[in-house]
Amino acid sequence: MRLAVAKGMNTSRRAFLGAAGSFAAAGLLGARFQEPHKTLPPTEDNIEGPYYRKDAPFRSTLADGLKGEKLVVSGHVLSPDGSPLGEAVVDVWHASAEGEYDNKSSNFWFRGRVRADKNGLYTYTTVMPGQYDLGEAKRPAHVHYKVSADAHRALTTQLYFAGDPWLDRDPFVRKSLVQSRCRRSGACSFDIVLAKV
Ligand SMILES: [Fe+2]
Repeated sequence: MRLAVAKGMNTSRRAFLGAAGSFAAAGLLGARFQEPHKTLPPTEDNIEGPYYRKDAPFRSTLADGLKGEKLVVSGHVLSPDGSPLGEAVVDVWHASAEGEYDNKSSNFWFRGRVRADKNGLYTYTTVMPGQYDLGEAKRPAHVHYKVSADAHRALTTQLYFAGDPWLDRDPFVRKSLVQSRCRRSGACSFDIVLAKV
């Protein structure tokens, strides 16, 4: 971090550390030297694919009792200025552990809508999606998203998982959507930034 030193201030290291200590003691160090405000880039969009179903139920458990490795995904929905988008709706759908979508049943397995809380936090529990065939290749594991909030542009995108061997061969993957914190542990973080209208 570069620190601007006011003209006339004693710039010896000792004096500076003393001054910094005073700021810290007063709880002012963070405020005084914080980074300039940055605008967050909107999350990249991605193809919807053929398997979206409207009107999935509002729920945070998408695959209750179904076979597969447990996966918990959470994150914040944010405006580009970093403010939380409480009440944003996060509509997700994905394939089963065997790579199959529930396209017909009234259970809407592996599908659901969750509403972000006042802090913009959303979370859902499901099973790790499987890869599925795409011609002679496979699509890497992914979760589809549609996210909407007042005064912001609706976003259709996908979450991918680092380490999937099919990531490099899939024409739809975007690097910014590959989450490295989604490996193995079963817990995954995926923040979403929506552009303003
Ligand atoms: Fe898909």
